[in-house]
Formats: sequence, structure tokens, C-alpha cells
Amino acid sequence: MTNIPETAVIHPFTNLESIRVRPPLIMKSGNGVFVTSKEGDEYLEAMAGLWCVSLGFSEGRLAEAAYQQITELPFYHIFMSSSHTPADQLARALVDRAPSNLTRVFFSTSGSEANETAIKLVWKYNNLRGETNRKKIISRQDGYHGSTTIAASLCGLDNMHDGFDLPAAIIRHTSSPHFWRYGVQAETEEEFSNRLACSLEKLILAEGPETIAAFIAEPVMGAGGVVVPPKGYFDAIVPVLRKYGILLIADEIICGFGRTGEYWGSNLYNLRPDILTCGKQISSGYQPISATLVTEELYQAFTEGTGRVGGLSHGFTHSGHPVCAAVALETIKIYDERNLVKHVKDAGGYLQDELHKAFRGKDFVGEVRGIGLLAAVQLSPDSTPSSTFKQSAGAIFSRRALDEKIIVRGVKDAIVMSPPLIIEREQIDTLIKGLAAAYEATLRDLEKILAD
Ligand SMILES: Cc1ncc(COP(=O)(O)O)c(C=O)c1O
Repeated sequence: MTNIPETAVIHPFTNLESIRVRPPLIMKSGNGVFVTSKEGDEYLEAMAGLWCVSLGFSEGRLAEAAYQQITELPFYHIFMSSSHTPADQLARALVDRAPSNLTRVFFSTSGSEANETAIKLVWKYNNLRGETNRKKIISRQDGYHGSTTIAASLCGLDNMHDGFDLPAAIIRHTSSPHFWRYGVQAETEEEFSNRLACSLEKLILAEGPETIAAFIAEPVMGAGGVVVPPKGYFDAIVPVLRKYGILLIADEIICGFGRTGEYWGSNLYNLRPDILTCGKQISSGYQPISATLVTEELYQAFTEGTGRVGGLSHGFTHSGHPVCAAVALETIKIYDERNLVKHVKDAGGYLQDELHKAFRGKDFVGEVRGIGLLAAVQLSPDSTPSSTFKQSAGAIFSRRALDEKIIVRGVKDAIVMSPPLIIEREQIDTLIKGLAAAYEATLRDLEKILAD
């Protein structure tokens, strides 16, 4: 062997060239909102891992729930009429908390699979009811829906397609709802929303409404840069979908379980999706589990249809895994007991206010945005959307934040954050202080870049 790799791990979403020069940050332990590296440095984890560790990194009750379940029944499947109590109880707990039209739950192990499942169920539903031409799915520019073939196709981000022969041919992308970036001069948020609804309708008419199966959206976009929809957005979009019989899929993989200050992002906009997908915070990220919730109407079509055409041949070995389900169930109980959604409203309001005070109107700051405990600080060379830096300012800012022992994520010229839902005001103060110091260092870096 000539070329012995430093690590055998292929790191997802990582520049594999630069990781050879800059070794990965290896984490060893966690406590509350903090994680500690192998070297003993403690970081405030303001991304909650990957938007998931809602209860922080040391929730003993989740460890206990996992231990109890692994001792009692470490694995059993729910295929072919088998079941177990944790899957059954978790499904009930989700239905009890979901928008009231959603009555049935399909379990997977990741957000990507939950979305992949949503699309397959839409196709199955349409085929069973004779709408065999309805195959196309509309998603949005800047949206993120996962990494499997269809989920990656749904993403409105070029890096998810380039070199992978994606998107799949049945996917269409409509405009991003980012008002700061795409609103035109003198346009109000409501006018922008109406313009996007018109352009969606034009797309549907151009494709043929009878060919469009579903529209998928994150209530608040996450990985695309934390984009809160403009005023009136869903009120303008949903009637267009209903007019043409197009199903609505709410991707709540990030928004679900209180992240936005409402239990579901759908609640923010009075959405009644036909399908809702959730994951990540369902188990505080402690176990890999996700869910696709559907209406009774879809479920009844499958029930009738599977009699005619054979069983619902879809599922994963670990669908509804008992240990994952037990941990998720305990997580959901803790959300209720601690009234975490209310806590997010308070802590989130404080985070948004403090971010505005610290960054709004500052050099290179274009926009400070967010809702609940989801936020972004957007940089731009002239504070307007019309220009971008030669290098990702978000990557620079997030590296500078790391120097301050704060973990946030760089997305193009923005940094985004989604701290654990248990974060307290003093910890938000620490976060803001660290980001303010990182911003000063970032300014110097950006001035140098602009001078070159
Ligand atoms: C909105 C959204 N949907 C889907 C996914 C994919 O989830 P996973 O990485 O668990 O497959 C993500 C992941 O970040 C996400 O943010």
C-alpha cells in the first residue's frame, strides 16, 4: 500500500482535500448545550449537532429509556403484521400531537428516508386511485430534503445534484421564498408571496396539472440558510395546490417538535399537509428514527389497494426500531413535561432580539433572520443581496466562531444556528458574545479578501 489514508472514514458533506490538511474536530463527550473535544476544549454547540440534539448532550432519561428497551427487546421488526409496543405507542403519540388530519405513521430511520417514503406513498396513492399520470413533484430552490436519490433531487441546491446525475427527471423546482434575496425593489412581502404563487401556477399549467403529484416544502427552510417565508406565502401557495389537486408535503425534519416556537412549523402557517415528515428532534438525535405521517384518506386507499395489488411493499429493517422508538417516546414525554415549546418561544425571542442588537446594521451584515431557535446572520460585501464574496464568508465566520469555542454552520455568505431547545438566556449571552468576537475577526479577513 502506497497511500495510507489518515482516516478510513469518508466524511459526509466534507471537502475531502481540505480534511487532509485540517484534521476533523473529534468530539469526546457532551454536557447540556456543550460538547468537549478529544483535546479537552469545550464548545457551545449552537447547531445542536445537526439541528437535532434538542435536549442537550446529557439527558439521562434517554439513556435509561434505551437501556430498558435494549434489555427487554433489543430488536424486533414491524414487517408482515408483526409489531411491538414502542412503535405502537410512538405512532399514537405522534398522531395525538400532529395536525388533526394526520392519522397514520410510517417509520424510517432518517429524514431522507422519511421524504423518500412520502414520495413513494404519493405515487402509490395516485396509482391506486387511477391518477397514473401524476408523477411530478415540485420542490423549491434553496430547499433541503436529504441525500437519497429522490430526496437529493428534491433539494434546490446545486451541490446536491452536481456529479450525481441528479435531479431525477420527475422533479421540478419553483422559486425560493427568500424575500431579502429575491424580492424586487419596492415590492412588499405580500406582493412577493403573490408573485411566487403566480409563478408556481404558471409552472403547473406549463407542465400540465394532471402530471403534478405533490409539492414539498419545509415550513421554515433550514439547511438552505434559515429562510422564514414572507408574509402571506403559504396563504398564497396552498390555494394553488388545492385548485389543481396537488398534495402538500410538509418537511418538518428540522421544524418539528418546537424548534420554531410552535410544536410544528405547519402550525405557524395553519397548514394542513396531506403528509408530514419528521425526524431529528423526534429522539433528540439520540437514536436514528424518523416518521412519515399521512391522512386517513391516503391510508384507506392503501388499505383497499393492497388487497387488490398485493401488500404495501415498502419498509426498512429498522423501521420503528424498538430502542429508537422507546427513546423517541421518552423524548416526546420530556417535551410535554417541561413545556419545551413555551421555553423555545421565550428563549427564541431572546435569541432573535440579541442577534438583532449585536449585528443589525453592522458592516457587511445584510440580514439577521430567524424564528424560535433557528437563526441566521447574512453577510454581503455591500450589505445587499446583489453581490457575494469570492470565498464563502459563512465558512470564514464559522471558523472564527470555532476559535471562540462556538459551533455554528456556514452556508454560503451566512452563518446559521439552531441551538439545543434547552438553551438558557445566559448561554445565549455566551453565544452572542462569542459570535461578536468572531465577527470582528471575520471583518478583518473579509476586508483582506476584498482588497486582493
Ligand atoms: C428539512 C430536512 N429534510 C430532510 C433532511 C434529511 O435528513 P437526514 O439527514 O436524517 O436524512 C434534513 C437534514 O438536515 C433536513 O434538514
